[in-house]
Amino acid sequence: MCGIVGYVGDKQALEVVVDGLRRLEYRGYDSAGVSILGPDGLQVERKAGKLANLEKAITDRQGAEHDLRGTLGIGHTRWATHGPPTDGNAHPHVDCAGDVAVVHNGTIENFEVLVRDLEDRGHQRRSDTDTEVVAHLVEERYDGDLAATVRSICKDLEGSFVLVVSHKSEPDLVVAARRNLPLVIGLGDGENFVGSDVTAFIAHTRQARAVEQDQVVEVRRAGVTVTDLDGAVVEGESYHVDWDTAAAEKGGYEFFMLKEIEEQPAAIRETLGGRMQEDGLLHLDELSMSDEDIRDIEQVVIIACGSSYHSGLVGKYAIERWCRLPVQVEMASEFRYRDPVVGRSTLVIAISQSGETADTLEALRHARSQKARVLAVTNTVGSTVSRESDAVFYTRGGPEVAVASTKAVMAQLAAMYVVGLYLAQVRGTRDTDEVRAHLRDLLDMPDLVQEVLDRMDVVRELALTLKDEERVLFLGRHVGYPMALEGALKLKELAYIGAEGFPAGEIKHGPIALIEQGTPVVVIAPRHALQAKLVNNVQEVRARGARTIVIATDGDESITPYADDIIRIPDAKSLLTPLLTLVPMQVLSAEIARARGLDVDQPRNLAKSVTVE
Ligand code: G6P
Repeated sequence: MCGIVGYVGDKQALEVVVDGLRRLEYRGYDSAGVSILGPDGLQVERKAGKLANLEKAITDRQGAEHDLRGTLGIGHTRWATHGPPTDGNAHPHVDCAGDVAVVHNGTIENFEVLVRDLEDRGHQRRSDTDTEVVAHLVEERYDGDLAATVRSICKDLEGSFVLVVSHKSEPDLVVAARRNLPLVIGLGDGENFVGSDVTAFIAHTRQARAVEQDQVVEVRRAGVTVTDLDGAVVEGESYHVDWDTAAAEKGGYEFFMLKEIEEQPAAIRETLGGRMQEDGLLHLDELSMSDEDIRDIEQVVIIACGSSYHSGLVGKYAIERWCRLPVQVEMASEFRYRDPVVGRSTLVIAISQSGETADTLEALRHARSQKARVLAVTNTVGSTVSRESDAVFYTRGGPEVAVASTKAVMAQLAAMYVVGLYLAQVRGTRDTDEVRAHLRDLLDMPDLVQEVLDRMDVVRELALTLKDEERVLFLGRHVGYPMALEGALKLKELAYIGAEGFPAGEIKHGPIALIEQGTPVVVIAPRHALQAKLVNNVQEVRARGARTIVIATDGDESITPYADDIIRIPDAKSLLTPLLTLVPMQVLSAEIARARGLDVDQPRNLAKSVTVE
């Protein structure tokens, strides 16, 4: 939440910083701003609303007395916490003299005390934000060493923050500091960067270094120094980012989400790739868990939020079926507050696309404090979740820019199947021939997902008929149930339609009261053992006036008489069908949002990476 970028080099910083903000805008789009240090001193431009508003303000400013030329800059895209999303609350914030510019991600919990003291000492507060205190504190304490000043201020701050600071008197220095929230360094040649994630600078360098807790970074043209809060230099490893720029571009699509939906076969393929041996079995050294550790597991607890939670629910079905282990799936935000029973023999799987979700991080920290072993399933190399876990399984979905998750979920589902089969293989709960057979089925899935994608015209047409609905229900059984939840979440977040997902067997216990004449009900009904019961449930809602939209397997006619609309998917093993049923629901939500004239990539009030609890 909130995207931050800092640059110092030989290029015009404005272009670099705005380009970085464009890629980080998924983190928040309540306002955006930049500060450039150059021949005209420290210049700031900031605007409420999406980045486009800032870009317009920058264009309008061209030819003005003070321009935004200069080769050092910092920028921010905001998801508002303290103070409404106005121009005045947009970052960067400056001190009284206009010498210091600060951008901030996070919450400074003791800011009220700090503000009071600063005002007592004569500082003029100009915004409602907690961030502004940092600019005034720098103004007070700066004595020619910006990094030392920032280190001293960090010691007095409570809460979570990433700060990026520049000072008029230091034209070759950007200082950044981190506590609890993500910050990555981009290492270039004669230029260096900091950003909330690697997409901030991926167009310029693929060499990155993660910043650890309570570290301060001094970014200069010639190099980067990292210290702890006492100023002691900390050495660290850099890593190569294999995402390329094209992956973070729209590539001719109107929205990132539409492109990311199309990239799903590749997301599965990449996630499976290289994880199988020639003997057709899994090879997961990356988990850094010994076979003995795996055999000692007595229960699995999956923690995640949002769409990742739904991937976890599918993981539960797979792991219970294949490994005969009890699996609980917990919303990460609730997990640590109810004293969960986990310990040494518990495997906790933390699923997070970004690897930065605060709720998931806190939950995994709690699990580790209880001696549980934590396996991270994440899409982001070097993320906090990956660094704080005992083992990591990287999904390889590539960068996901649209706020609503699509290909990352697809990759997570593939990951949950692989992890489930690996546990079964090592624990011997499935014989090797069966593991091989399941893996072969999994390897067929990218082509089947492609087949579903190729058939989506029917869904696009359907979307036009649903665009004015106020309520849509989603029903599924077995692994169709988590997908019903995911379908409803997508429709809520993208189209702002009241959507709810239920286990189909549960509707008669209450939700059926919601059905009126014409209420659309999406039923996830691929062929499987519970088909007959699902057919009954469809009949029940239809008898009460529902318009039934059924996702059904090719050739399965059992449900056809009760379907007002039908979306066909190819046949697949029932446990793997979420990989197929997910696609039409993603397309449906995106197309309904588009038909309603909404911003598919940046739905209102949301942020992709939620770094507050
Ligand atoms: C936010 C996003 C969701 C995402 C959830 C978890 O709420 O809007 O799309 O599923 O965070 O994110 P994570 O990065 O932890 O998977």
